[in-house]
Amino acid sequence: VIKRVVYLQSIDSTNKYAKELGHQENFESTLVIAETQTLGRGRLGRTWASGEKQGIWMSLLLKPTIQPTLAARMTLLAAAAVSEAIDAATGLCTFIKWPNDIILDDKKVCGILTEMSAELNHINYLVLGIGINVNQIEFPAEIQEKATSLKNVGGQDYNRLEIVVKFIEIFSKYYRLLIEENDFGTVIEYVVRKSATLDREVDVTAGANKRRVFAKDIDENGNLIVINESGEEEAIFYGEVSVRGI
Ligand code: BTN
Repeated sequence: VIKRVVYLQSIDSTNKYAKELGHQENFESTLVIAETQTLGRGRLGRTWASGEKQGIWMSLLLKPTIQPTLAARMTLLAAAAVSEAIDAATGLCTFIKWPNDIILDDKKVCGILTEMSAELNHINYLVLGIGINVNQIEFPAEIQEKATSLKNVGGQDYNRLEIVVKFIEIFSKYYRLLIEENDFGTVIEYVVRKSATLDREVDVTAGANKRRVFAKDIDENGNLIVINESGEEEAIFYGEVSVRGI
């Protein structure tokens, strides 16, 4: 699935770099990895602390042959692959906070930032930006309460390359299932089993609007099914979901 790996010592943001590659005609699917980012970007315009050699800062550039409306599936696919790769390489037990955070010990250990360029009927390129906190033990004060690393929980240094290799292997498996066999159920099954979001009250934030709902299920497209304030079932496609206590 991945044809090329670009390894950089330092870059402003691997997502930005991957998007620039995506603008080229007939680009190859590429994994961009950097030892450090000077302007790592998170969701909702936040910054992402990307200390040198401390974590895995990578972006996957792809041209998935799926409808743009189904692009959210790619984020969940990446989340499943990251979670499974971390568990396999470290023996730790991660969970997935719908739609794009990986949780360890009730704190965030990995975030995913998906960006794409699309027309009405096809995706020009899609970038899955993945940041995994591996060996750092300190975090900026603003995120200290919420963030953790594999080392913080496992008490040892972890080999980043082993995790990346596992990720590529598992991601490729799930990607082929989706693209070649139209099988997304295998990913959903994993995400439901490893969900930190389901069967509890969650806050759903969309813009300035925040609601408390009950997270019931994840449907076949990867949408979160909740029971809303009026007791009705509702699908959540977008917006930030915060799980109480995480
Ligand atoms: C989030 O806010 O949770 C998403 C964080 C995504 C961080 C990764 S690190 C590699 C890639 N390059 C970036 O600038 N951001 C993503």
